[in-house]
Amino acid sequence: MSDQPAENIRLRPALENLPAYVAGKPAADDGVVRYKASSNESPFPPVEAVRDAVVASLEGANRYPDAAAQELRTALGTEHGVNPSQVSLSTGSVAVSGDLVRALVGDGDEVVFAWRSFEAYPILVGSHGGVPVPVALTASGEHDLEAMAAAVTDRTRLILLCTPNNPTGPSLSTEQVEGFLARVPDHVVVAIDEAYREFHDPATVLGTAGLFRRHGNVVLLRTFSKLQGLAGLRIGYAVAHPRLARALGQVTVPFGASLPAQAGALVSLRPEVQDELDHRAGWIRDERSRVMRALATQGWELPASQGNFVYFPLGERSAEFAEFSDARGLVLRAYGTDGVRATIAEQEANDRLIEIAGAWRER
Ligand SMILES: Cc1ncc(COP(=O)(O)O)c(C=O)c1O
Repeated sequence: MSDQPAENIRLRPALENLPAYVAGKPAADDGVVRYKASSNESPFPPVEAVRDAVVASLEGANRYPDAAAQELRTALGTEHGVNPSQVSLSTGSVAVSGDLVRALVGDGDEVVFAWRSFEAYPILVGSHGGVPVPVALTASGEHDLEAMAAAVTDRTRLILLCTPNNPTGPSLSTEQVEGFLARVPDHVVVAIDEAYREFHDPATVLGTAGLFRRHGNVVLLRTFSKLQGLAGLRIGYAVAHPRLARALGQVTVPFGASLPAQAGALVSLRPEVQDELDHRAGWIRDERSRVMRALATQGWELPASQGNFVYFPLGERSAEFAEFSDARGLVLRAYGTDGVRATIAEQEANDRLIEIAGAWRER
């Protein structure tokens, strides 16, 4: 537009080399029945009691929410066996991860994480002047903890462990994380991002509470976006030791956890809602097993997933597979020339994934 004034502002140079966050593609509205399996969302609508609480909260939407989110932090404190002041909330755990970077990472300080992993990590680090240190996953899509420990330097302030790892799916065991923590200086914060914890086989899930109790440099990241199905409301949290929790409170955006998000999250913690959510997690696990079995029968060799998603390490053919799937009514998430992630979604979508993956192999 010709009437725009000249914009001679000076942006931070750090922004020049930042990758853009690519969100999962929405399903195109072109008459084809399409399922969205590109963002690891829950296929279930919010539990009714949660929905009711969210709607009821709108009555008070002319007021700011409780900035301290006292009721929710008290409930989460009880759940995790910590003081409510050790719970730090924001607009999704992605925002809490940003708070961690702001609290810990100065210009030129380093943050180590596995790669590929959650794609927001390098953006959060780089946009705050930190230096992202991505460490390649193993051939089976797992964290290479040896290499990650070896990547720690005097400049390392934060390490992000993603378990189960998005997008590949494998998880870390308590023993593995204990062994890793033994090799990392205890002034380096180790964040354990368990956005998909609830989808893990409960028999072997990470002993997060014990790791937190034993290590003063461990912080936990959790979200209500996945199993709880509140992705659209934006709420997540950290459980931190007291000094870090205070620092997170200093850097976080005030009133990040909105009124409806606080209301929905609080009701999600009620025992009867938890029962329903456990049931849903079991359903997703069963579907994941069904899909993985069917894909194995077709000859696919995929990383073992403990998330609500499966990963096809297709390399150069990733974009082609995602397009092939899109044309057949299933929207997946392609990651450059690494692979393609498919969310375990509603049953029809999972059936379609099996059909499409089979058709791809038979071309
Ligand atoms: C590993 C991981 N951490 C955090 C998040 C962000 O969750 P939230 O919606 O709470 O910001 C995601 C979302 O996809 C994720 O995959």
